[in-house]
Amino acid sequence: MSERSVTLRIAAPLASGQYIHLCLAGDGAPDGWATSSSPLVGLRTGDRLRGDGATLRVISVGWLPAGAELASSPLYLLRAEGDAPAGTMALTVERAGYALAWITLSDKGAAGKRVDESGPLLGTLVADQLDLALTQGFVIPDDAGLLKGLMVDLALVQGFDLILTTGGTGVGPRDVTPEATLAVIEKRLPGFERVMTSASLTKTPHGAISRAVAGMLGQALIINMPGSPKAVSECLEPLLPTLRHTLEKLQGDPSDCAALHK
Ligand code: MTE
Repeated sequence: MSERSVTLRIAAPLASGQYIHLCLAGDGAPDGWATSSSPLVGLRTGDRLRGDGATLRVISVGWLPAGAELASSPLYLLRAEGDAPAGTMALTVERAGYALAWITLSDKGAAGKRVDESGPLLGTLVADQLDLALTQGFVIPDDAGLLKGLMVDLALVQGFDLILTTGGTGVGPRDVTPEATLAVIEKRLPGFERVMTSASLTKTPHGAISRAVAGMLGQALIINMPGSPKAVSECLEPLLPTLRHTLEKLQGDPSDCAALHK
């Protein structure tokens, strides 16, 4: 867990569950928002800000463009975990647990014509294996541009650790998940892809059809899965035991695997 501190000014008391924006203090800062008088770079979605009597969770990260009286500032959406008082307070930034995002690729799901079970199942299966600071889910159409933008945002702006997609890995005309993923990852993890294919082939010959890709972008691990709850559990199950070690390594754990895992 890494720790540092930020000093925030909160205009009015917050009730548990209430959302509040946070930006750099300045004459143009909107009324009622939380502000910081020192630079606010580097908070990640899932971070917890904790101080005397107040705990706030970072729910989303964006940018506030420069205005007449306000410098360009990171813009955070925070949610109060428990009631929080008004005033100026020093809060410790804690990163406890991983941030997971699942993305369901489904034209019908995105149009509200099908209930998505695969995405929430990904969240449940990972939560059994890893400590999670936060899970967010997205149901989007099979659109390569949207998916690329979302994956880049989740990995490089929001700071998610793990991004799991479900659907769009097959051979249909709208199946574009692997191409979108290949376009954004910086390193590919073919071993993960082989594990999913071999596990799938023990269940169905159609396992050969999925072109699911896995790889890394920034500090995030991205894994595609086919698009059904059955396929999700069959593909994710054999990968679960290696998720933690993969995340530790890709996020810079310098430990010597040769010495540790004899
Ligand atoms: N893999 C597993 N483990 N179990 C499955 O049921 N279904 C297959 C395949 N992989 C399946 C599987 C089928 S029928 C298809 S068409 C492809 O995944 C692609 O699915 P997708 O386009 O929904 O991603």
